[in-house]
Amino acid sequence: MFAARRAGAATPEEKNKTLFFTMSMRPAGARPAQLPASRDWTRPPRERYAPKMKPSATANAAPIIADRPEVMRTSGWDDYALLDSGHGRKLERYGAWTVVRPEGQCLWTPGRPAEAWNAADAIFEPADEEDAGRWTLLSSVPALWPMTWADVTFNARLTAFRHLAVFPEHAANWEWITARIRAAKPEFRMLNLFGYTGLASLAAAAAGASVTHVDASKKAVGWARENAALSGLEGAPIRWICEDARKYVAREVRRGARYEGIVLDPPKYGRGPTGEVWRLYDDLPDLIAGCAALLSEDAGFLLLNGYSERMTGLALAGLLADVMAGRGGRVDWGELALMEESGRRGAGLSFFARWSAT
Ligand SMILES: C[S@@+](CC[C@H](N)C(=O)[O-])C[C@H]1O[C@@H](n2cnc3c(N)ncnc32)[C@H](O)[C@@H]1O
Repeated sequence: MFAARRAGAATPEEKNKTLFFTMSMRPAGARPAQLPASRDWTRPPRERYAPKMKPSATANAAPIIADRPEVMRTSGWDDYALLDSGHGRKLERYGAWTVVRPEGQCLWTPGRPAEAWNAADAIFEPADEEDAGRWTLLSSVPALWPMTWADVTFNARLTAFRHLAVFPEHAANWEWITARIRAAKPEFRMLNLFGYTGLASLAAAAAGASVTHVDASKKAVGWARENAALSGLEGAPIRWICEDARKYVAREVRRGARYEGIVLDPPKYGRGPTGEVWRLYDDLPDLIAGCAALLSEDAGFLLLNGYSERMTGLALAGLLADVMAGRGGRVDWGELALMEESGRRGAGLSFFARWSAT
């Protein structure tokens, strides 16, 4: 149903990325045969962090989980458009360049004539293996080119993972985060885990937040920093951390750090910088409990995104409500969708759930 994030060829410097995009060989949702003995699995995740959590004024208030899903639609902007979709593919424009990428869920008939599709500058051809494939260039597409979203400028590039170093469907989240930060008190500290090329971090910094950006890939952090410079945000209060997200959160909990907002977009499978294995189904509950423990008393949001088709918005909402028990607020959930330029139809690409204080 969702776009598979592909595994690329394992060049050493792309090892992290490759591992991130590699689907776990275990069926979605499957647990290891034996749970690690080191953890007390009888205790809910939030209780493992409970001593670190401050009692709040709204103690015992359970967050309200929204009755209905919300579709967070991205309809494109000056530098990005979903021009057309259909027959299992997307025709998109990134700045001046048009690309065709596989999108299995777009089963309908394309709206534009074949000539529009044939005029694309690059096509990603999937190989037999689910996530493998390669780009075919049909014109002189540069190695990278700048694009802008609101106050953020970043480099697009044809990566070996079928995407262009940006996930445009996240624009709806960037907008939401930005509005929240602007409406909040001036000192807003945001933590961005699995931050990749830094778009959410930069959108938050441009809105006035001080940001801690964490990613396991040195290369991704490097690209994020380049994007900060392109955006004129090199002097902004952003801490760039190349580290395993779980280790970082555990350390922040021990140090008693606090944030007003946290966003995370964890992959299904990934690796920390020193080989720490990340498995969404096994590791998310503890990580999200740690995130809850890091929220300050007047925190604004905790936004969780996921691309695993077996972890829906409602499931993510259940987990958030669990770790946020006692904090009140509400949990909204649903999916992120890219809408065609025509506005007629779109594709749901990932699920989200977000706790907000109000
Ligand atoms: C798909 S990206 C997130 C996309 C990003 N939120 C955006 O909208 O552009 C996932 C990132 O997780 C990182 N990652 C994978 N395993 C990790 C781990 N254990 N700790 C920290 N980051 C990790 C990868 O390096 C990759 O950059």
